[in-house]
Amino acid sequence: MRGGLRQMSRAAFPAVRTAVMSPTPAHSLPKLFGSMAHDMTDVEDVQSVRTDGDTWAITESVGATALGVAASRAVETASPDPLIRDEFAYLLVSSAGLAWARLASPDMDWIGDDEHGRRAHRVGCDYQAVRTHFFDEFFSAATQSGIRQAVILAAGLDSRAYRLDWPPHTIVYEIDQPKVLEYKAGILGSHGAVPTATRRPVAVDLRDDWPTALIAAGFNRTRPTAWLAEGLLPYLPADAQDRLFERLTALSAPGSRVAVEVFGFDGSNERRRAARRARWARMRRLGLDVNVEKLTYPDANRADAAQWLTDHGWQVHAVSNADEMARLGRPIPADLVEETVASTLVRARLDRPDR
Ligand SMILES: C[S@@+](CC[C@H](N)C(=O)[O-])C[C@H]1O[C@@H](n2cnc3c(N)ncnc32)[C@H](O)[C@@H]1O
Repeated sequence: MRGGLRQMSRAAFPAVRTAVMSPTPAHSLPKLFGSMAHDMTDVEDVQSVRTDGDTWAITESVGATALGVAASRAVETASPDPLIRDEFAYLLVSSAGLAWARLASPDMDWIGDDEHGRRAHRVGCDYQAVRTHFFDEFFSAATQSGIRQAVILAAGLDSRAYRLDWPPHTIVYEIDQPKVLEYKAGILGSHGAVPTATRRPVAVDLRDDWPTALIAAGFNRTRPTAWLAEGLLPYLPADAQDRLFERLTALSAPGSRVAVEVFGFDGSNERRRAARRARWARMRRLGLDVNVEKLTYPDANRADAAQWLTDHGWQVHAVSNADEMARLGRPIPADLVEETVASTLVRARLDRPDR
């Protein structure tokens, strides 16, 4: 069955859906760490918990961030006028447990009467929708240009291999940690979802020798490729990021394309840090402890990916998330600008010599 995304609907997953339709009242949620004020003072010195060679399952460490962004896609998909549709997001997130199901619920009842938190969360979901839209368009343009090989780096719960309208004979490689890829394929497979391209999971750590694993899975370096690095770079050490781009450039035949989400993690911006902590505190009150600050590598000398690509022969187009959100009718409210993630959405081409 091709076009799995169009044929599958929420109605296919009634048991999972029920968990969200009967939510626990917000006031009875476990208050893991007491009041918000206590939460905020509790986290002054946030150190990265990352170590060389660390691994995780979907609900652990960096794996949980894949659930978080997929939850936003689920919220967007269920909204009245969605910018993107990811019919698999709710299933994938809610299968991880009740608290995750509530995070993926469009009513956002788990936020309770925290109106500011609700608005901030909504803008976060808008951002995820806009970035998904940007990268969906990237793949659409890439396949229109004739590309039939895609590599999704740190694929997480990205369901593009199941939901995009890939041309026949397209191969989509998905790289992530083994347990993350197993979780996704297991859930989707057990609910009858079928990829719309040839999907090839490549279970390898992106700090290791992933090109060897990719080539062993069938990747053809003589064919142009569409690469995606969405929601990845801060979770890599700066030198691993450099190696990532060196390696993917070396593997890119002329005509290849790459799309990247480049985060502007400004550690000195106190309002932005406070907003990240408030987001963490909100999720802890839901019972989910996902502190992105602890999971990233805060390398001050990290290369700017757009500049790196320009310096290495790629034709780069970059847009700020704020501009793209405004363009797509999801502007960041003025009072929330400094509380909203700041990123640059990048796409680039490696031109053929004859162009
Ligand atoms: C925020 S999620 C983004 C997932 C997906 N790209 C999306 O946007 O939905 C981060 C993902 O990066 C993966 N990841 C982070 N560091 C990695 C590494 N060193 N090797 C493989 N995967 C990694 C995590 O397992 C997780 O799935």
